[in-house]
Amino acid sequence: MKRRSFLKIATASFAGVYLSQCSALRTTHQPLTTVIKSADGLLDFHLEAQDETVSLAGRQAKLMAYNGQVPAPRIEARAGDTVQIRFTNWLSQPSNLHYHGLHVSPTGNADNPFLHVAPGEQIDYSFTLPDAHPAGLFWYHPHHHGHVAEQVAAGLAGLFVVRGELDEIPEVKAATEEFLVLQDFELDAEGNILQPHPLWQMWGREGTVLTVNGQLTPKFTLPDQGLVRLRLLNASPSRIYRLQLEDHPFHLIATDGGALEEPVELPELILAPGERADVLVKGDRPPGEYALLSLPYDRGIGSMTAQMKADMDNDPQMAQMSKMMRSLRQLQTQPQQLATVIYGDRTSSIPLPKKLGAIAPLPEAQVQREFVLDHGMDIQNGAAFLINGKGFDPTRTDISTSLNQVEDWTIINAAGMDHPFHLHVHPFQVLSRNDKAPPFLAWKDTVMVNAYERVKIRVKFADYPGKTVYHCHILDHEDKGMMGICNVQSV
Ligand code: C2O
Ligand code: CU
Ligand code: CU
Repeated sequence: MKRRSFLKIATASFAGVYLSQCSALRTTHQPLTTVIKSADGLLDFHLEAQDETVSLAGRQAKLMAYNGQVPAPRIEARAGDTVQIRFTNWLSQPSNLHYHGLHVSPTGNADNPFLHVAPGEQIDYSFTLPDAHPAGLFWYHPHHHGHVAEQVAAGLAGLFVVRGELDEIPEVKAATEEFLVLQDFELDAEGNILQPHPLWQMWGREGTVLTVNGQLTPKFTLPDQGLVRLRLLNASPSRIYRLQLEDHPFHLIATDGGALEEPVELPELILAPGERADVLVKGDRPPGEYALLSLPYDRGIGSMTAQMKADMDNDPQMAQMSKMMRSLRQLQTQPQQLATVIYGDRTSSIPLPKKLGAIAPLPEAQVQREFVLDHGMDIQNGAAFLINGKGFDPTRTDISTSLNQVEDWTIINAAGMDHPFHLHVHPFQVLSRNDKAPPFLAWKDTVMVNAYERVKIRVKFADYPGKTVYHCHILDHEDKGMMGICNVQSV
């Protein structure tokens, strides 16, 4: 049973599917990551979730994988394509698929987070990308409430690339493209995923093994022309990355929802779970090796872990938890190397692009809403994660809106911990952060809301009526209730 599914894909009996080696694998000998591309407007393939032993970070690990791969196969499609995915759940727990960031229907067998695919069951997903879908970096992962953090932490995540205009800008096209899926894992000596202590879930599980494309410190080599395009996804359940490339600024060209108007130079980049960034890096320093670093970042749990550690050191049952916290403290205080960028002498060069795309600001909103993110106590779980005082209830509609309505949402983080806020299906623009306008326009689907911060976003509910969800993308928080339902009614 184990390898059967994978071989079936590899022999590609499905219409319109091409498979090729992932470009990032050129310089390494690592597990196969396949690329599945649409052809003639159709993307049609079989995706199977299964408990698998895979090679991760140079060892064998017992993870959950799509088609045997961590990260999962990279999907590539174009605006207007029809996507048909036959999904089989071989896991021992319910699951489903979510297409994070895609602007597609949330109903039926499309991007519907309410679908329940029981163990052993199969479902045919089918949806069409609108003709005007922006090019960008999107992704897919399980979204069965109550199991999301566990399944994503076990490896279930893959890229969903939409190709288009951004890729055709001459300088972008000429750059070497590399995909970097950032995932953290916590494994025991046998390679099993460590079950997190309930307190650790409350904060949001993090792992001490930081991987890029399932590898430890992979190498990315710049060719002679000296421009590389790093396309980054934070697929970790809770970890917030603060990224820096030694001696090189990032030139941000796209965020969650696609192209910026022009490149924005950034000395470092903060990427919350679920967020993506597309950056160009110029190889204009002396030839050599440069580390891509994950810099210390405290998302509000630093003081809590320090205090907990003291209590736990005396309790043998808590020893493992305590050990993990020690290494996590270290991760919070010391830079970690994620990858290496290498280049030699340049023989030619490509300039940065000047213009990327056009972003029209959304029109004035008709409706204003507030969402207060907070934690309350509840007897069963010790803590409940709430939006406007309520935990998630699949039978309750929290917000009703109508198709084409523009709304301003103020997300108020009333807690001492960061909560990245995510809305499905409908991309938004950030209007302000603590009443300050952002430095540039961008399309987003996930936005960081730091401890005690208020972030105002503007969203237009275009094209797709139906129920969908918004939630904190610290996935343990989502599983513990920090999620609501938004119903877009057709008029
Ligand atoms: Cu990537 Cu509802 O999430
Ligand atoms: Cu999503
Ligand atoms: Cu949260």
